[in-house]
Amino acid sequence: MPAIAFVNQKGGVGKTTTALGLASAAWARRTPCLVIDLDPQQNATTGLGVWAPVATVDEALASDRPGVVAELAVGSGWPDDRGLPPRVVASTAALAGRERQLLSDPVGAQDRLRVALSGCGGLTLIDCPPSLGLLTINALFAADAALVVTEPSAWASDGVSEIMRTIERVAGRKPSGLKLSGVAINRLARTRDSRYWSEQLVSDHGRLVLPPVCLRAAVAEAAARSLPIHALPPRRGAAEACAEFDVLYDLVVGAGGPEDGNGL
Ligand SMILES: Nc1ncnc2c1ncn2[C@@H]1O[C@H](COP(=O)(O)OP(=O)(O)OP(=O)(O)O)[C@@H](O)[C@H]1O
Ligand SMILES: [Mg+2]
Repeated sequence: MPAIAFVNQKGGVGKTTTALGLASAAWARRTPCLVIDLDPQQNATTGLGVWAPVATVDEALASDRPGVVAELAVGSGWPDDRGLPPRVVASTAALAGRERQLLSDPVGAQDRLRVALSGCGGLTLIDCPPSLGLLTINALFAADAALVVTEPSAWASDGVSEIMRTIERVAGRKPSGLKLSGVAINRLARTRDSRYWSEQLVSDHGRLVLPPVCLRAAVAEAAARSLPIHALPPRRGAAEACAEFDVLYDLVVGAGGPEDGNGL
């Protein structure tokens, strides 16, 4: 199963929410899943109910040992009665300092996560910070595929084009290539503005645009309660949100993207 990086240099568009939504779909299907939190904000870590982890992704980036990620993963706090909780390589605020340190590393600064992840098969979801810095670049070098997450708002399409150019450049430097899973629209609202920018994304990026995830109170509630959305009672839009994440999971994890994957 693939390693997928959730990317966009724009902040607050739903990278973490989408990564956790797909982790939740895997939870409900009892599919083993590893979440790597590469963002010093630690939102995926806390969203998975992990507090004060004994090991973090910072150690993976500091190490030269192939496959070290397997030793650094900890159990998540998601319930184990109705689903299979994912494992997590947790983040730490120290990651911001690590990124600065990597900048001065003359050897392999961009593919330290790839080395740390080598040999670890299985579904792996990598949540990236809102920047095109070395942490995101490490995620792209480590991943088999990139999922661009955006919201339907002004200038979103320009931001998507920018991250796509970065994905293309990384793909050109990786012998194993890097697939573009598509563009996931998150937080689609029932407003004219939201509809306009969503249509704009489709007109600019065509078949790469995946079915949307709508703005729903249940999505924010799941994150706030550190629960998989599939574990919430089916009210306040939870069932609809689960269905949307299930569709996304099938397209991104199951098949490998629009037109069976966009190999770059
Ligand atoms: N579909 C949705 N419905 C309701 N709230 C949402 C939805 N998607 C995201 N949110 C809320 O919007 C906020 C930003 O989402 P999220 O943290 O996933 O974005 P992000 O791209 O990961 O941000 P950052 O760039 O800071 O890492 C969060 O509070 C989240 O709960
Ligand atoms: Mg985030």
